Amino acid sequence: MGLLGPIKPIDSGETKQHGRSLKATLSWPHLVALGVGAIVGTGIYTLTGVGADRAGPAVILAFAIAGAVCACAALAYAELATMIPTAGSAYTYTYSVLGEALAWVVGWSLILEYSLACSTVAVGWGGYLVGWLQSAGVVLPAALLAGPHGGGIVNLPAVMVSLAVMGMLLAGTRESATLNIVLVIIKLVALSIFVVFALPAFNADNLTPFMPYGFGSAEVNGAPRGVMAAAAIVFFAFYGFDAVATSAEEAKNPGRDLTIGIMGSMAVCTLIYMLVAIAAIGALPYLTLANSPEPLALVLRTLGQPTVAYLVALAALIALPSVILVMMYGQSRIFFVMSRDGLLPRRLSQVSANGSPRLITIITGLFVALAAGLFRLDEIAALANAGTLIAFIAVGLCLMVLRRRSPELVRVFRCPAPYLVGTLAVLGCLYLLFSLPSSTLINFLGWNAIGLIIYFAYGRNRSVITTTGAGASEAGLPA
Ligand code: ALA
Repeated sequence: MGLLGPIKPIDSGETKQHGRSLKATLSWPHLVALGVGAIVGTGIYTLTGVGADRAGPAVILAFAIAGAVCACAALAYAELATMIPTAGSAYTYTYSVLGEALAWVVGWSLILEYSLACSTVAVGWGGYLVGWLQSAGVVLPAALLAGPHGGGIVNLPAVMVSLAVMGMLLAGTRESATLNIVLVIIKLVALSIFVVFALPAFNADNLTPFMPYGFGSAEVNGAPRGVMAAAAIVFFAFYGFDAVATSAEEAKNPGRDLTIGIMGSMAVCTLIYMLVAIAAIGALPYLTLANSPEPLALVLRTLGQPTVAYLVALAALIALPSVILVMMYGQSRIFFVMSRDGLLPRRLSQVSANGSPRLITIITGLFVALAAGLFRLDEIAALANAGTLIAFIAVGLCLMVLRRRSPELVRVFRCPAPYLVGTLAVLGCLYLLFSLPSSTLINFLGWNAIGLIIYFAYGRNRSVITTTGAGASEAGLPA
């Protein structure tokens, strides 16, 4: 029993128990593709506009800061993923290292992260759909394009894409490696085309003043401003790299391939993001971009390239739903593992004939659709980021605690300079967390307060470890 509740044994045998001995077939190019596929989405396609609103031209710097913090978290993640290669990611690591109560907070935060990340991508997708239809002459009623916080009734396109992805998951859809490569190519070609067309219009005047709102996050007339306020929101653009860390078992040479896979996809994405941001900010005054629902298409149209704008929007429409698919799947896995551990009702972890946890998927899909339908993009992205930052902080802590507590454990991948990297991950994520709008932090605390009530009223007494004194449970993971 740890200070913060019972600890789940690391070698709980879950991997073998569930027959999840995967073939080592992936080398670093596959892992970089996997990472880029999961990472590139609404963050760069849409939140660039929100970042420009908060930081002005310094949104470029905001991308670099968020990327550097994520790179540290990614290294910590990789070491733990290769030591504890079971489902549940940061939740499972925290359970094994810091104890059940903190694991619950992390799991509950991850539920928020994954669900609201899906909603955010759905809203971003809707923005591109609306612009795309408009350029084809189809205008939808404004009341059906935004929720009450955005001045409408419901964001119908975002609801529809959320429910469509839920339907695909219920039908047993998983993203295949081949489809991933195709989507990565579509996304990268579209962003490259954007840079090729926008960069020649670069006007250095658009970069001054570079930091109109200063560096630190501050609320000016109720709106979050500053480079750190932008970094805290464009942080969204970077997550998804856990897809690489969790494929540790399948890497041919995990030590080398994972390092290159994680750092490579991070470096590729940071570079692309900064190029796209430089091209966008250089082409138009940042106030024109600020909060646009489809900033990249807007830049291209304003530069007199409607056909290219149409194609870039089409690429976003094709590729973004796969990010929702991966995230919604990840969410159902977290829910599943928490219920298998007895912290949530067992009924939730029942798996249907095609291997998908049906009830969880439906609950998740409806929650995602509801948030996407009612809230603004920046609100839900900020809340999703808060959940993710808690998970990353926990991962950084777990890395350092485990190095000290169990130095003898075999580490397939060893994070370089673990205490430095872990400290930078923890402090960087804390700084980003406290750079989020105060309303986000209050909502996030509210979410975790509800979570803790559920934990103390339900999960604490029913957890498998408490009731049986054992490590893992017997229930099988979905295939
Ligand atoms: N990083 C992913 C995106 O930007 C979640 O859509």
